[in-house]
Amino acid sequence: MITQNPKEERTLLIVKPDGVKRGLTGEIISRIEQRGLKIIALEMIHATKEQVNDHYPKDPAWIKRLGEKSINTYKEHGMDPKAELGTDDPAKIGEFVRSWLLDFLTSGPVVKMVIKGIRAVAMVRKIAGQTMPTMAEMGTIRGDFSVDDAAAANRGKRAVHNIIHASETPEEAAHEIDFWFATDDIHDYKRAEEDIMF
Ligand code: CDP
Ligand code: MG
Repeated sequence: MITQNPKEERTLLIVKPDGVKRGLTGEIISRIEQRGLKIIALEMIHATKEQVNDHYPKDPAWIKRLGEKSINTYKEHGMDPKAELGTDDPAKIGEFVRSWLLDFLTSGPVVKMVIKGIRAVAMVRKIAGQTMPTMAEMGTIRGDFSVDDAAAANRGKRAVHNIIHASETPEEAAHEIDFWFATDDIHDYKRAEEDIMF
């Protein structure tokens, strides 16, 4: 049973290097704030490979899922994963993707932030859109500002450029917030519209 106040739910968002270099940080913050979600911590950093390696799960099931996302994209394009990558094993493809992801997230500065609000995790995922920009709905950040997918990215031996990272579950969010922010760097304040919106 969840006893936490729904207004206190927190999530982590990272503007990836492609988003920062394209000047999309302000647009992303604006979409979060206009939804009524509150930014309670914010910082630009150039992450190390060690940090990114500890940020993303090391669990084999998660890595396999990364590979499956590539395989599904190949299917949509009618492409053969074996011909493209020399294997159709999702676990192996997932390992490739994970290492490209470490290169990508350390290729430039990122902006990390903690966001708080009602159903913050699900709301921010919704604002982000699907992992593959080619499949992301219009109106989402990925759908409005990016066009990449795994079939294109894997050929270039790189991760999909999809502008942002957003925690997928409250548990993932708790781990990520704890990993990226000290308690003292997370703040609280009342937003002017709080009494009107919720
Ligand atoms: O970011 P999201 O939670 O939507 O997706 P994920 O499955 O947790 O994957 C993490 C990140 O890995 C994605 O955002 C992509 O940048 C990248 N990825 C990729 O390059 N190729 C894949 N087949 C799957 C994910
Ligand atoms: Mg994820």
